[in-house]
Amino acid sequence: MNLAVFVSGRGSNLKAILDYPGLDKLVSVVAVISDKFDCAAFSIAKEKNIATFTTGKAEGKLSEVELLNLLTDLKVDLIVLAGYLKLIPAILLEQYAQKIINIHPALLPSFGGKGMYGMNVHKAVFDSSAQVSGATVHFVDNTYDTGKIIAQKSVDISDVVAPEEIAERVLTVEHKILPEVIKAFAEGRIQIELSRVYIKKKS
Ligand code: GRF
Repeated sequence: MNLAVFVSGRGSNLKAILDYPGLDKLVSVVAVISDKFDCAAFSIAKEKNIATFTTGKAEGKLSEVELLNLLTDLKVDLIVLAGYLKLIPAILLEQYAQKIINIHPALLPSFGGKGMYGMNVHKAVFDSSAQVSGATVHFVDNTYDTGKIIAQKSVDISDVVAPEEIAERVLTVEHKILPEVIKAFAEGRIQIELSRVYIKKKS
């Protein structure tokens, strides 16, 4: 299975995918795509000789059609948003229906939506006095963080004294569930039945 990973920043989830034991036998990351000309995630990609591309409207960036053509040429089966901050254009959503997933650093459907990224999420969770947080992997649709939920894992945050502590605990969980969901995709174990998504056990 060929993956394109979309990033905007640090790339720790990209690294978790690349380093997940055994995942390289099932999937190849064929492109790392960003809305930025450069970001830390690009360095991780370049270290592994993975091609990097930049999307957007400005000079030197891939247009929506060019991006779709690139993904088609590279025979991308699954698009993974790992810290990508932009909405996905409609032509990609159409072509990759139920083949685009995102990792979100909170338990959706709470603490999602426009502006809910990075530390904004963890600050909101902290201020709400929620006693658990966690990570969510979900399908991507045309709005932020509203697609169907595929997997979630919670963490106890009842003793934290700062949002940064929540971020740290949640990130550890993100690095587990995102590769696990990708693996399940590669093994054909993600199934949608009526309104719910199931990850079937290995037979
Ligand atoms: C992660 O917390 C992810 O859940 C969110 O953006 C952050 C990206 O971190 N969507 P990284 O770039 O993977 O380190």
